[in-house]
Amino acid sequence: MEVVLLPTPEDCGRVVADAVAGSVLAALAGGGPVVLGLATGSSPLLAYRELLRRHREEGLSFTGVQAFLLDEYVGLPAGHPESYREVIRRELTDALGLDPAVVHGPDGSAADPLAAARDYERRLLAAGPVAVQVLGIGANGHLGFNEPGSSLASRTRVKTLTEQTRRDNARFFGGDVDAVPRHVLTQGLGTILGAEHLVLVATGEGKAAAVAAAVEGPLTASCPASVLQLHPHATVVVDEAAGSGLARAAHYRYVLGHKLADQGW
Ligand code: F6R
Repeated sequence: MEVVLLPTPEDCGRVVADAVAGSVLAALAGGGPVVLGLATGSSPLLAYRELLRRHREEGLSFTGVQAFLLDEYVGLPAGHPESYREVIRRELTDALGLDPAVVHGPDGSAADPLAAARDYERRLLAAGPVAVQVLGIGANGHLGFNEPGSSLASRTRVKTLTEQTRRDNARFFGGDVDAVPRHVLTQGLGTILGAEHLVLVATGEGKAAAVAAAVEGPLTASCPASVLQLHPHATVVVDEAAGSGLARAAHYRYVLGHKLADQGW
């Protein structure tokens, strides 16, 4: 795992954008259809803004790219402004020129959410592998909506959010915790591990304990993001505040300062 410790959230956004653009360009050069894995929430927003800037000003093209979301709330009607498919269209994919038909998410409005989970897993496996998966991390170490205790081998399924996560996400629902759905559809940890490159971004002190547990703690379902330790190509991009709990911070800075010219992300 490569830990990239940077001064500011803006620096993190640039590095995540570099990693995403690099993986997308490499996969497009390989000729195949390219699958981009997207997270929602606050953490990736600066990276998405930077990708949009490069698309607008530097001609970074996403033609031929399909996007797959990590997760979705159960029970919000299709088109609800806080459903993750709407959020990602608003924040990123419309402005990148991606047709909504190539932006996929689990169907949280389905009458049978269990079947919708199985269907999403099938569609993702058929389209994949995901070239690069953008990830955030919950303050409790969740990855996607795999809350603590989730199987490290899990596939896409229905999960129940912890009350902490519902409180954390109430800010997107006008501060009303009761408006945050209890259930979600989420890629499993095993599903997420199928991506070729995992890029996790975290900023702010509120994420420091979770980042330290994920990166330097034991591999455990109690910290779902620790599953990154099993992946051969995982990049963790954090600002000083989110990295403030890392015991090996000096080593990560040393490694970053001595990267080989062609090493990339
Ligand atoms: C969102 C997701 C979640 C978030 C996490 C952090 O698609 O999968 O795991 O990444 O809850 O959320 P923010 O970035 O809003 O702090």
